[in-house]
Amino acid sequence: MKILVLNGPNLNLLGTREPEIYGFETLADIEVEMNTIFSEVKLDCRQSNSEAELITWIGESRGQYDGIIINPAALTHTSLGLCDALKAVADVVPAVEIHLSNTHTREEIRHKSLTAPACIGQIMGFQGFGYTLALRALVNKLSA
Ligand code: DQA
Repeated sequence: MKILVLNGPNLNLLGTREPEIYGFETLADIEVEMNTIFSEVKLDCRQSNSEAELITWIGESRGQYDGIIINPAALTHTSLGLCDALKAVADVVPAVEIHLSNTHTREEIRHKSLTAPACIGQIMGFQGFGYTLALRALVNKLSA
C-alpha cells in the first residue's frame, strides 16, 4: 500500500511556527512517527508552499498511490483548485484531511474547508498525533 502525504504552505516551519497552536514537532518528527505504525505501508511525504505544485502532485497520484493524507494548511480555506484535484482522483485515491489545530475554535475564516467535501474524512485538533490517526483511519478504510 502506498500513501501520499501532502503538506501545504508554511508547514515546513513546524516546530518553531506558533508552537502554542501547532505544537513543537517538526514535519520530520511526524514522518518518523507515521513510519513506525505500519511496516507494510510505504509513505511518500511532501511539503510545498505552492498551490500549483500540490495540485500537480494530486493529479499525478492516480495509479501511483492508494490514498492521500493532506493538510492543505491555509489553502484549506481558499482553494477550489485543490478541491477539484482531490475530486478528480477520489474514485481511486481517497483522501483524508488533517489539521494540527482545531480550526473551529479559531478565527471564523478558518471554520470553512473547501477541500473537506472532496475527502472521505477529516481529523483535527490533536497536533502532530493527528497524522498517525489519519493514517490509521485511511489504512482501515483501504483494507475494508
Ligand atoms: C492548519 C490550519 C490552517 O487554518 C492554517 O492556515 C495552517 C495549518 C492546521 O494544521 O491546523 O497553516 O491547516
